[in-house]
Amino acid sequence: MIPDGYEVQVLADDHASALAAAYDRNREHLAPWDPVRPPAFFTPAGQAADVVARLDVVRRGLGASWVLLRGGEVVGRVNLNNIVRGVFQSGSVGYWVDRDHVGRGLATALVGHAAERADELGLHRLEAGTLTHNLASQAVLRHSGFEEFGRAPSYLFIAGQWRDHVLFQRLLHDGPPGNLVD
Ligand SMILES: CC(C)(COP(=O)(O)OP(=O)(O)OC[C@H]1O[C@@H](n2cnc3c(N)ncnc32)[C@H](O)[C@@H]1OP(=O)(O)O)[C@@H](O)C(=O)NCCC(=O)NCCS
Repeated sequence: MIPDGYEVQVLADDHASALAAAYDRNREHLAPWDPVRPPAFFTPAGQAADVVARLDVVRRGLGASWVLLRGGEVVGRVNLNNIVRGVFQSGSVGYWVDRDHVGRGLATALVGHAAERADELGLHRLEAGTLTHNLASQAVLRHSGFEEFGRAPSYLFIAGQWRDHVLFQRLLHDGPPGNLVD
């Protein structure tokens, strides 16, 4: 449940400027957990290009994206990435919350929102990976019904290095894949 005063919207072209402002405000907050970003990433033009590319991924059924808004500012984001259908019916979830809005249950609410939409999309499973020392993110996932299922050495190139991750998953339902049912 999204707390009062906040609103979740499906990512759209007109979020680009507010996204650029949010990424710029949160440079130091996000840097340890993100890939190294080129300077253009923090500009409205860079974010406009990023949103166009992302919406193409969404149109192809490979992802989904939402932004968290408060008073016209973007203060968080959640993405479903790497959606695979067939016998897998799986997607990966990624998220962040603005440095001035952490500790209010917002990330847990965003992950819950993405899980509900993923269930509606017919996915069977969500996955998430956190850096081994990202205890806040691990708490978010455990609050959201995820279970740790493994450790992956040198899993993602984050903050300039291949880094070990803890892997989590949440099973959404036990039904068969929709596209395999007559
Ligand atoms: C991780 C992040 C998304 C959490 O957002 P948030 O809105 O504060 O999350 P929530 O309020 O829903 O829950 C945070 C939980 O982490 C706990 N927490 C916070 N800091 C912690 C720490 N250093 N060690 C252990 N737990 C911690 C909080 O106590 C809370 O758990 P609780 O409800 O049991 O008290 C946010 O800090 C962030 O955007 N970080 C940078 C980007 C990032 O790490 N993204 C995830 C990549 S996998």
